[in-house]
Amino acid sequence: MNVRALAAKILNQVVEQGKSLANVLPPAQQDLSPKDKALLQVLCYGVLRTLPRLDFFCRSLMEKALKGKQRDLHFLILVGFYQLLYTRIPSHAAVGETVSGAKALKKPALKGMINGVLRNFLREQQSLVEKADQQPALIYCHPSWLVKRLQGAYGDHLAAEIMHNNNQQAPMWLRVNALHHSRDQYQALLNDAGLNSFSSEFNDNALRLEKPTDVYKLPGFEAGWVSVQDAAAQLAAHYLGAQAGEVILDACSAPGGKTVHALELQPNIKQMVAVDADAKRLIRVQENLDRLNLKATVIHGDASKPESWWQGELFDRILCDAPCSATGVIRRHPDIRWLRRDNDIAALVALQQAILTALWDKLKPGGIMLYATCSILPDENELQIQHFLESHKDASSIALSRQDNGPRKGRQILPNEDAMDGFYYAKLQKSL
Ligand SMILES: C[S@@+](CC[C@H](N)C(=O)[O-])C[C@H]1O[C@@H](n2cnc3c(N)ncnc32)[C@H](O)[C@@H]1O
Repeated sequence: MNVRALAAKILNQVVEQGKSLANVLPPAQQDLSPKDKALLQVLCYGVLRTLPRLDFFCRSLMEKALKGKQRDLHFLILVGFYQLLYTRIPSHAAVGETVSGAKALKKPALKGMINGVLRNFLREQQSLVEKADQQPALIYCHPSWLVKRLQGAYGDHLAAEIMHNNNQQAPMWLRVNALHHSRDQYQALLNDAGLNSFSSEFNDNALRLEKPTDVYKLPGFEAGWVSVQDAAAQLAAHYLGAQAGEVILDACSAPGGKTVHALELQPNIKQMVAVDADAKRLIRVQENLDRLNLKATVIHGDASKPESWWQGELFDRILCDAPCSATGVIRRHPDIRWLRRDNDIAALVALQQAILTALWDKLKPGGIMLYATCSILPDENELQIQHFLESHKDASSIALSRQDNGPRKGRQILPNEDAMDGFYYAKLQKSL
């Protein structure tokens, strides 16, 4: 299959049908050569990062938008613009391959039209880019509701920096399994394999690869020596601080990255209970446990209704890695900004509140609850926790960093802070 046509089909499914890129891209990559696989990813990620800008070029060059059954071709044209503007593919090859994509999409009669639009773009590129650069919406390439929320939370300057960082490629972070190697030992193994890496100052198990690589090229990946996990997500198990003999709940556990990390750091806990409401995603928790040779009680259940799955023993520690807007991980999931809607946020805040409140009842007196989201919106984070503390007089907040001692509780990490994803953590203790 023509890679440009494949990209156009995927983009149509994401942008017009609201499908998640994480669900539609990997199956499409399955039968491709490594080179085409990488190109397909670059094209899909790139177009989603620059969508309003590319749409603007299309509107400027075409009298009528392509709709209905021809919508695939609209995305094919955007794929063409993206290559011409942002990749090193020679323009004759970019145009030629993109035009051939029309045939692969079973619309060979429109090859001439695509060719014409791309050639006009090449002629008018400079003035179109200058026009786009005068419109903030076409510089940031984020939906206006999100721009407003970020500016309201962080001010114009920091919001612009966040959006810039959201449009960068995320690094590949590794989590070294402490049960097998120290970080220095594993870094030496990476060096031997020709893979350069940097250690994190803030995280004992984390290594950042200089260049992303296939996981199967990582020494001992299949044997469980290492996992792929952003350094911000790796803070969860450290903050949770599970101790030998404790009963731990990971309430929103799938795909299990934080469950297994907590077990790697403390294999002598009494029991790890891993719950998730999504049965399909729970399969991945079991796969992760198996690869790392670790054990947990995996339960399909709703964290906001623990009575339906709770086994009668209060937990010493609970990790609540709540469902959220995922606005902290837009650099890894460029489709999130187009799939989320402003009014999703209130529904997520209500769900997080219901989960927090229900789980609090299942925590032992003196126990610890770690609340986490990969969001950067205060409503889901510090305001959520502020509200929780006001309505639970038996809850107090334990500071996670020096900044966390004031009235704003928890630690908010912004995207690309120390090369990490955007994340929020709050550590709460139940009074005795
Ligand atoms: C941020 S993800 C968790 C990531 C996971 N902790 C990890 O590190 O691999 C949030 C999870 O919450 C789950 N979820 C959503 N609503 C839930 C609910 N009511 N009860 C339990 N899990 C829920 C989703 O299926 C999703 O797997």
